[in-house]
Amino acid sequence: MANLPLHRRNIPVSRLALGCMGFGGEWNQNPVTSEHIRQGHEAVEASLSIGINLFDHADIYTQGKAERVFGQILAERPELREGIFIQSKCGIRFAENGVPGRYDFSKEHLLGSVDGILGRLGIEYLDFLLLHRPDPLMDPEEVAEAVQRLKSSGKVRRFGVSNMSAGQIQLLQSYCGEPFLINQLEMSLAKIGWLETGVHVNQDAARNDVFPEGTLEYCRLNDIQIQAWGPLAQGLFSGRALDGQSAAVQETAGLVERMAVEKETTREAIVLAWLMTHPAGVQPVIGTANPERIRACQDAERIVLTREEWYTLYVASRGKALP
Ligand SMILES: NC(=O)c1ccc[n+]([C@@H]2O[C@H](COP(=O)([O-])OP(=O)(O)OC[C@H]3O[C@@H](n4cnc5c(N)ncnc54)[C@H](OP(=O)(O)O)[C@@H]3O)[C@@H](O)[C@H]2O)c1
Repeated sequence: MANLPLHRRNIPVSRLALGCMGFGGEWNQNPVTSEHIRQGHEAVEASLSIGINLFDHADIYTQGKAERVFGQILAERPELREGIFIQSKCGIRFAENGVPGRYDFSKEHLLGSVDGILGRLGIEYLDFLLLHRPDPLMDPEEVAEAVQRLKSSGKVRRFGVSNMSAGQIQLLQSYCGEPFLINQLEMSLAKIGWLETGVHVNQDAARNDVFPEGTLEYCRLNDIQIQAWGPLAQGLFSGRALDGQSAAVQETAGLVERMAVEKETTREAIVLAWLMTHPAGVQPVIGTANPERIRACQDAERIVLTREEWYTLYVASRGKALP
């Protein structure tokens, strides 16, 4: 794993993170309910019980309710703050007043977003702020100014990006004094573009690849922690109904189940271990708010897949032999 900085009395960041996108229920402007807070407490407790200390947010999740729920949890258990890492993201705007949903890395928007995030979470600082999705209109100089202001004001300790290619990170980094330490990307047994781009070099099949070539390598070379969003593939290989799914998905799900039985663990642990066995040191951001499913991920770090097991799952998930 790349080195996320040790932090606060040398507490290291956990290998798994909890994604809080499900906190607060539906994506709407309805008020947070006591049931949301109860569910949030359970998810946080289950996470802490398996050693998770990194919690991933974004200002848009459930339209701000996810951060409000988490803020309420911290208000009720203030002692938690110093032992955990809180990460949030900004830069995506909802549609409003006839203007479509869009991205916004303007200085004004980034600074205002962080104030909103800190207010909803009820905290003084974020451990990590990620720029959520690349804004085609981003002006790297302006982003650098915003980053500098957020850093010097103490509102954000460390920075990262999400869904960005190597070139986009390089562009931002060349203007920014602060290092971008994280890149959060969709990666799972169902989203294998990050591997396909690599194995398709010098192949016609490369024409269909969507994952930007060199991004994985750039992150590894520059000690940028790669975080995987959607790492459980929304349960596709760990218990979700498979009606109508492709033969490749069905076969992969069967293999995951068999390996889980053989290794006396859960299917979730196998699915995550497959990501974590890759030498890039991927940090999965699991998105379930279900305490049982969170606990089912506990073994992920302990399980080591052999080269043969890893390739068996990879080849099954791609649905055809490697070139
Ligand atoms: N950077 C980005 O652009 C981006 C985009 C999306 C998400 N994220 C982050 O990544 C986190 C994870 O993403 P994700 O939620 O897409 O990923 P995930 O961890 O792959 O999937 C979690 C979702 O799948 C459901 N699920 C898991 N196992 C299941 C099963 N066996 N049967 C039925 N449903 C099952 C969960 O429902 P239950 O809650 O009921 O278990 C939950 O809705 C999010 O919370 C968020 O923090 C980042």
